[in-house]
Amino acid sequence: MGKLSDQVDWQYLLREFWLLYRFGSAGGNPTIRSHLKEVRNRLNAELEKNPTVAFDQPNHLPVCAWFNRAIDQGLNERTAPLARAVMRVQDQLTWRYGYERMRPGLARKYAYAELLGPNGPVISENLILGIVLFAPKCTYPEHSHDGISESYICISGSISDSNYSVFSPGSLLFNPPKRAHRMTTGDFEPTLLAYAWTGEPEKLANQKMDFSVRK
Ligand SMILES: [Fe+2]
Repeated sequence: MGKLSDQVDWQYLLREFWLLYRFGSAGGNPTIRSHLKEVRNRLNAELEKNPTVAFDQPNHLPVCAWFNRAIDQGLNERTAPLARAVMRVQDQLTWRYGYERMRPGLARKYAYAELLGPNGPVISENLILGIVLFAPKCTYPEHSHDGISESYICISGSISDSNYSVFSPGSLLFNPPKRAHRMTTGDFEPTLLAYAWTGEPEKLANQKMDFSVRK
């Protein structure tokens, strides 16, 4: 347990996150522009507090086999600064599934690691920042988030949003609360996404992700 001021690699990781949300395009959309601003404002407020950093046990899940390839590909993209900053902290990441009941196929191809949030490593009640890693040919089933606004920024690889769009490095996908979204990744390369969640502190602290029930 320490303070962010003692963790130089984590300071730069959060700075790269901030820059993504400062210089990433909102595509002229006012709702997305205000989400980008809200993420930056919340992150600024946390950084001013010199937050506590508390690492959980670092671990590996099956999808981590694709981590190096995802970083290598990300280093060729305009999102390289964030890919490099993630690489610098890879030994301190705790990977999770986030679901009480995990689908076996998905357990081999997906996991996320939080960087900042109520569960750390950088402690914040008002914002969650993290990364999600997917193997190639992964379908992340339809799900939604109650009381949470979510954005994903593609860092490496590519990902589709339901049957509507495909996102490549630098692209942003915004999900307002309760919007159901299903994602698939490309055939050959893994996909690394950065994500941000904003919402009320109790929603961020007690987020239960649920897959939609298919009828
Ligand atoms: Fe989501």
